[in-house]
Amino acid sequence: MIQNNAYMKRIMFICLGNICRSPMAEIIFRDMVKKAGRADEFLIASSATSSENVWNGVGAEVYPPAKKVLAKHGLSAEGKRAVQLTAGDYDKYDIFICMDRYNVRYVNRLFGGDKDNKICMLMDFTGRPGDVSDPWYTGDFETAYRDIYEGCRGLLEHLT
Ligand code: 4NP
Repeated sequence: MIQNNAYMKRIMFICLGNICRSPMAEIIFRDMVKKAGRADEFLIASSATSSENVWNGVGAEVYPPAKKVLAKHGLSAEGKRAVQLTAGDYDKYDIFICMDRYNVRYVNRLFGGDKDNKICMLMDFTGRPGDVSDPWYTGDFETAYRDIYEGCRGLLEHLT
């Protein structure tokens, strides 16, 4: 069971659909902290800005090509289902990490601003800030994986 405590950093990764980029970030970062022996320090989740992939409260599975690239890197997306971010999530997480600038705009609007300065972009934690390469449009899941992996490494370093 996941324990939530005062020392835990609560992290929410965000993208448009929660079937490609943000689930990849959730799964990659969870594996990374586990391998670093630091799993206990983090509560990790991901969600969508859009309601597109949630039907009657049931979220879609991770998009098959995203599952495939994760599997290629030894990671499983089993059990992950899309969920939509809600306004009430603002106080439940410490940091909201967006995959692109459109997510940032949406999330700021949903939360009515960012009074505690919690919203950022994944690639801000790398030497090349900007959007994560979007595989929905490029079809290139390996490049997206590499961007996300690099962002997650930078994030973990930042949180050390
Ligand atoms: P994601 O990818 O935001 O990385 O999960 C997308 C998923 C669905 C759509 C676009 C991007 N869509 O247009 O349905």
